[in-house]
Amino acid sequence: MTVLGIETSCDETGVALFRDGKLLINKIYSQEVHTKFGGVVPEIASREHTQRLLPMINEILEDTNCGLPEIDGVAVTYGPGLLCCLLVGLNFAKGLSYSHNIPIIGINHLEAHIYSPFITHKEFTPPFLSLLVSGGHTQLIKVNGLGEYEVLGHTLDDACGEAFDKVSKLIGLGYPGGPEIEVQAKKGSAYAFDFPVPDPEGLNFSYSGLKTSVLYAYKKLSQEERIRRIQDIAASFQRVAIESLILKLERAIDETGIRCVSVSGGVSANGLLKKHLGELDAKWVVPDQEFTMDNGAMVAFLGYRLFKKGIKSDLIIRAEPRLSL
Ligand code: KG4
Ligand code: ZN
Repeated sequence: MTVLGIETSCDETGVALFRDGKLLINKIYSQEVHTKFGGVVPEIASREHTQRLLPMINEILEDTNCGLPEIDGVAVTYGPGLLCCLLVGLNFAKGLSYSHNIPIIGINHLEAHIYSPFITHKEFTPPFLSLLVSGGHTQLIKVNGLGEYEVLGHTLDDACGEAFDKVSKLIGLGYPGGPEIEVQAKKGSAYAFDFPVPDPEGLNFSYSGLKTSVLYAYKKLSQEERIRRIQDIAASFQRVAIESLILKLERAIDETGIRCVSVSGGVSANGLLKKHLGELDAKWVVPDQEFTMDNGAMVAFLGYRLFKKGIKSDLIIRAEPRLSL
């Protein structure tokens, strides 16, 4: 069985082919045009998807020598995400499905992230814990099986990746903020600033207080210090942001007794996070680098599993910008 995966929920255009349990090809186009705006501009993102999607699909079909008649299913993200971006991928998939009589399956972007580590790593037998940390989401989930999720905790305000992006912008670094902050943090002192580790009740997260602490500390600095201490701010912020994730993970492990943890989403690329995961009394897995950010492979991978179970969607499936698990 061959499944085409399409991902257009935000600023990454992703296409991939998954065949008989193996990823054949994965292509991602990261829309760098947003860098100069310090964040994603939805109208520009959807236009970029519209321009890129068809050539990218032609490219992966050509590179793998796969003809459209060989495709048994189209898997496409239908939410959550930016409406104008989701519509590009979804309507493209619908056109392909209708014109070539190929079944379509709508994929929940969050669910695709959850399984992304298992594209290349051995899968945990449920139940396992999943920490989903991206630019739009920060959630701790107990995975009881495919389609069976218990959200144990979520962010009460900003997502973790969003905090990286906002702090990066504040201190004059680029977008996306995570990788930029991580690079600067390596050259700074993680204890130079004593930002409080956010710890809202239970297994929930909060990042807006931390962002405000950074803002106040930054405002107190002179113009010269702001430049000189960028690396210390980045390192101190990163330490605290990651400590908060680890604190909740440890609590979830204690409370549930589950010692298998899968971490996914853009922030799972962070080196300090992986270092701390290594210190947990639990087995853990993160996606390979190319599957941490939004990509078509995770969509094709989940689509393949759902098609295998005989699950598919109706052609009138709607885009759902606020879809949850
Ligand atoms: O999963 P993703 O590509 O898109 C969403 O679904 O949001 O995640 C993007 C987020 C951005 O906020 C970015 O700053 C963050 O992931 N990110 C990182 C790192 N790489 C990407 N955060 C911390 N450290 C990183 N190395
Ligand atoms: Zn994502």
